[in-house]
Order: sequence, then C-alpha cells, then structure tokens
Amino acid sequence: MDAGMLALLGKTTALMEYLGFLWVVQTGLELDIWAELASEESLEDLMALHPDWDKVLLDHWLEQAYCQGLLTNNNERFRVTKLGRAINKYKNSGLDALYKELVGHWSTGFAKLPLLMTNQEEKLAFGSAMEEELIAKASLASEAFVWPFLRAKCQREKWQRVLDLGCGEGLYLNKLACEFPELYGVGLEMNPVVASRAQECVKESGERIQILCEDILALGNLQSIRQKDDGQLNDLGTFDLCLINNSIYYFTPEQRIQLLESIKGLLSPGGQLGILTAVRKGEPIRIFRTHIPQNLMSFFLACHQGFQGLPTEQEVITLLHQTGYTDVSVSVMPLGTSHYFFAKCPNE
Ligand SMILES: C[S@@+](CC[C@H](N)C(=O)[O-])C[C@H]1O[C@@H](n2cnc3c(N)ncnc32)[C@H](O)[C@@H]1O
Repeated sequence: MDAGMLALLGKTTALMEYLGFLWVVQTGLELDIWAELASEESLEDLMALHPDWDKVLLDHWLEQAYCQGLLTNNNERFRVTKLGRAINKYKNSGLDALYKELVGHWSTGFAKLPLLMTNQEEKLAFGSAMEEELIAKASLASEAFVWPFLRAKCQREKWQRVLDLGCGEGLYLNKLACEFPELYGVGLEMNPVVASRAQECVKESGERIQILCEDILALGNLQSIRQKDDGQLNDLGTFDLCLINNSIYYFTPEQRIQLLESIKGLLSPGGQLGILTAVRKGEPIRIFRTHIPQNLMSFFLACHQGFQGLPTEQEVITLLHQTGYTDVSVSVMPLGTSHYFFAKCPNE
C-alpha cells in the first residue's frame, strides 16, 4: 500500500478513536454514568436503574467506554478504571464544561469552517450558553497546574493587593485570599451571570475580595468609573499585581495596548502584571501532543466575531515591551498548554 495512504488511514483511525473518547466521556458526564459505575454493574443492572433508556445504545456506550480504557470488563460487569474515576472526580473542575464546549460548540462551529473561510457566512457568535456557563468554567481545567505556580510566586513576591481582570469564576482570587490572610483582591468580570457565581465563590474570604461586574475596557476611562454614582471603584487604590488570566485574546492588538497602558495607572511602583494565555506557533511540546488542542483553540476562537485567535509568545512579549513594562519573564506551564508572562510596571 502507498505509504501516504497508510499514514492517512492511521491518522483517520486515530481521529475516530479520539472522537469516540469525546462522545463517550461527554455522554457519561451528562447522564452521570461515571458515578454509577464506581461499583461493578452489568448492562441489566443499569437498565433496571434507567428503564426508559435505549438498551442497544447503552450497550454500545459500555463497549466503547471499555475499549477506550475507561471501564474494566469482568464477565460483562463494568466498573470505572482510574481514568474513568478521574472523570467523575474532576468533572466540576472545568472538565464538564470543557467537554460540553467541545461537543456542542467546537464540533458545530468547525462544521461551518468552509463557509467561514470563504467569507460566505458571518463569523460565529458565542451565544449565552458559552458566555454564561461554559467559557469561564472550562478555564478552571488549567487550575491544577496554574494554582501551584501562582501560589509559589505569590509567596516569593509577597503580593498583598491583587486585581484580576476577567476573573471568571473568581477561583484564583479566592484561593489567593484563603492562602494568604493579608491579601486583598478585586476581580472585574463583565458577564453578570459569571460575576454572580464569582461573588458566591469568594464569599468564604469575606470582605477581602470584591467582585465587580465591569468591562475591563472601561479601565481606559478610569475617571468615569471612579465617578460612578455607586462609587464602587472609588477607593480601590493601587495594586501590586494585576492578572489577566486566559482573557487577553478577547482584545484586539490595539485594545491590548490601551489596556496595558491603563493598567500602569493602577499598579503601585514596581507592581507586576501577569498574563496567562495559551499561545500560537510555539514549539510543539510532545508529551501529550498538546500543541494540537492549543492551536485548535486559536482556530476555534478565530471563527468568532471580534476574535483573531490566540497571540503568539512573541506578540505578548512585544506588547509588554511596547507598553513600557520591564523585567519580562515567561514560564511555560506544565504540559505546555499555557504560558505565564510576568512583567514589572515601570517606575514613573
Ligand atoms: C476564559 S475566561 C477566564 C476566567 C479566569 N480568568 C480564569 O483564568 O479562570 C475569560 C473571562 O473574561 C471575561 N471577559 C472577557 N472580556 C471582558 C471584558 N472586556 N471585561 C470584563 N471581563 C471580560 C469573560 O466574561 C470570561 O468570564
């Protein structure tokens, strides 16, 4: 057989396997079967629990989940493997949202790619399910490696006043406040539904964390925010750390410059800016072939109105230099999916 054809067949089979994994995991999450299979169950046991379900489809689901290494099969009695158990354990740490996003939005979005690429159809809009539910929650999937990095850095730098722009679920502010009893933080989140979940999340840290439902871009016009009737931002003072975690890609290159310029006015002398983002066009890190989802994410974002995909590493570095920040450092997060850029505010 022609080597090209053989390679193509190999890729196609691997693709089907990955798609199978996606659909099986997502269905199990949505129907909560991963929890039910914590103990050994047969098809008949599961049908007794769910008499209205389609037995043929459930049988196929079990077969696929077994083939994908998600279930053990002991004489047709199934139980979750370590991998299957992890799905249930970590489902609320962004995994549930991420899989929903992949199945419900990436698949349908990319199906329109020929029309989008040839400009026969308007770019996509995220819609309320993505904006209110999925995007911010799916972002939590990187917490396992971002949080240890941020905690260690905060310990070294002794940050006490943190501003989190596009704070999503408010998770990092809450964790910082719980870990560092002297730390005070403010989160800005423009989506009211997400902002109210963030307010709920930070409740345990009491008055030390404030979540404001504000558009980051209004920072450029600080005066008008500060003069708002409710005076919310009146007394916020300056910060020794400003975070832009997983949200720089919401802004055009021009808006990024404006944003970084206005952040300088909110940082204390020597204060730092931290930008966490996946990047395009980096050198692939091959442990889990993580460059594929990373670039795909950029591609998916670029299918949407107002988005141009992820920045490259060099673009973020240039942006920081261009806007006068100094001491730029870049840390690649484990698995290579994200980069954390830190830089110092110039002493003006
Ligand atoms: C991908 S989430 C990241 C959330 C969080 N920073 C994290 O890393 O887990 C991006 C968040 O930024 C918010 N966002 C985007 N543009 C914004 C803007 N102009 N002002 C305020 N929030 C914004 C979105 O609503 C979304 O919740």
